[in-house]
Amino acid sequence: MKDSFKTLFWQDNKLVMLDQRILPYEEKYLTLSTAREVADAIKTMVVRGAPAIGVAAAFGVVLAAMEANGNTAKLMASCDILAAARPTAVNLFWAINHMKDVIEAHGADASMLRAEAQRILDEDIAACRKMGSYGAEYIPDNSTVLTHCNAGALATAGWGTALGVFRSAVAAGKNIRVLADETRPRLQGGKLTAWELQKDGIDVTVISDNAAASLMRMGQVDAVVVGSDRIAANGDVCNKIGTYSVALAAKAANVPFYVAAPVSTIDMNCPTGDDIPIEEREAEEVTHINGVQILPSGVPVRNPAFDVTPAALVTAIFTEIGVFKDNIAKALKEALVRDL
Ligand code: MRU
Repeated sequence: MKDSFKTLFWQDNKLVMLDQRILPYEEKYLTLSTAREVADAIKTMVVRGAPAIGVAAAFGVVLAAMEANGNTAKLMASCDILAAARPTAVNLFWAINHMKDVIEAHGADASMLRAEAQRILDEDIAACRKMGSYGAEYIPDNSTVLTHCNAGALATAGWGTALGVFRSAVAAGKNIRVLADETRPRLQGGKLTAWELQKDGIDVTVISDNAAASLMRMGQVDAVVVGSDRIAANGDVCNKIGTYSVALAAKAANVPFYVAAPVSTIDMNCPTGDDIPIEEREAEEVTHINGVQILPSGVPVRNPAFDVTPAALVTAIFTEIGVFKDNIAKALKEALVRDL
């Protein structure tokens, strides 16, 4: 990956992040100096994607510790504000709980917490590279791969999960073409996936969400790789709305459906996908595109932001500790239950 942008980084005691709301039109970095600003940035999707919001929240806890100045009750209240920013991606809660554990064990020293948040960021990139190299083995040379939403460098601290698999395949010398679902309502595929793959010189073609099933049926897709916001203990995968339709179409067309996600996305405390809270976002994401109203005024809309793909439709899950396949629920339990 060319180091042409950074999703988020710590500089001069502040958290800097690329404003993803205005990509691909403008590349602008925002500098945040309070935990509340970080919570708002997560809520309004300045930063988005499960691992990236976990990393942002960890640095949010650092800013909260700087603001609290030894007042633990104030610090914990800021952690709660960060945790309320978005409900579905478990990485947010994983990161905040991890930072709380560190505070409990070692105190609320801001420079120690900053080092811990930086470690989470560095480990996220390392995890993406590792799962990328495992996943790349499953991507045939000279193939067409399809992805949904943006599970790329922009959704992580760098490299990406699903797009990390594609980057690793390209780095291994494979020739691939990526089909990026546009991903209504917010168009993360059309805007963000296209932007970051273009920047890296990876062959990307955007399709409307409606085209995916038909292209698979016509034999024009060799594999699907998506990211995830939360994987339940039984292997059900929660991801951006529309992922389930892609998985159903992939099953019908006999196309392998892969999920790439770090272990911090697997929630062994969540028995099934039905237990995952699904965020409902504001109607304006559906009624408007780029601030322009496209639907009749006053028409009711629904806007669930995520859906659940049952484990039975998942061919394999790529993580930094290996590949889970066949009986995914059993494999997850064997690998992860001792870590609970
Ligand atoms: O609403 P978003 O843009 O935060 O949703 C992002 C996704 O659904 C991604 O696919 C998921 O977080 C995996 S990111 C590596």
